[in-house]
Amino acid sequence: MSDARSVRPASAPDAQPLDPTRIPSHIAIIMDGNGRWAAARGLHRAAGHRAGLEAVRRTLEACREIGVSILTLYAFSTENWRRPVEEVEALMHLLGEAVADEAAELAREGIQLRVSGELSSLDPWVRREVERVIDLTRENRNLILNVAYNYGGRAEIAAAVRRLARDLTAGLPLDAIDETALERYLYTAGLPDPDLLIRTGGEQRISNFLLWQIAYTELYFCDVYWPDFERTHLLDAIRDYQQRKRRFGGVEGI
Ligand code: FPP
Repeated sequence: MSDARSVRPASAPDAQPLDPTRIPSHIAIIMDGNGRWAAARGLHRAAGHRAGLEAVRRTLEACREIGVSILTLYAFSTENWRRPVEEVEALMHLLGEAVADEAAELAREGIQLRVSGELSSLDPWVRREVERVIDLTRENRNLILNVAYNYGGRAEIAAAVRRLARDLTAGLPLDAIDETALERYLYTAGLPDPDLLIRTGGEQRISNFLLWQIAYTELYFCDVYWPDFERTHLLDAIRDYQQRKRRFGGVEGI
């Protein structure tokens, strides 16, 4: 980003510049279409996920440049355990490898790694690597990369309620439970809700992602398979977002 008044995509000089006063602070992405991308090329699904990792790198870099503060990526859902064991293993391996390979770069770029999800079911080496890099980047403030791994929106709410119930038994007064209090028990505690949720791959559904957090999030669906997702697609999504009128249940102008 060089111009203080506009953010112009390098690859599409004629496209409408972004409004720098309305950059979504938190973008969440359902990275769908890796399997179909691979099938279209006669490749294994794992090759699609590997190509998807390149799209993650591009998107992260673009978000840094544009000034997005938080990027949440849906990398593995609690339902993805139903996939063939080779694919589950490939995805687990990819997470561990990506985190290990990118640790120095994340640290250099001031990016903080967070994970939303149940870490206890990860392969021990992947878990160790993830925890090491979370620790290494804890103080970074340029951007938060929040990877939703072994994540399910319903599981997250159930886990929050379990911990809340434990605190009630330990003396937390019933009246203390309101929306803000409940949010402190979610994996995303301390993060603002996403402003914009993008889903690639052509499907228009939420698939158990951030069910609590997207109450007022703007939704954007695009047909491109995740491995083909480029900076220009991200800019298109943000431009679309900037046209929306967000009322949060209220009335505009009041
Ligand atoms: C959905 O596509 C994609 C996933 C379940 C995995 C996403 C993982 C990555 C992009 C790589 C790892 C990312 C990080 C952050 C380490 P799909 O397989 O359901 O595609 P399909 O609908 O075409 O079958």
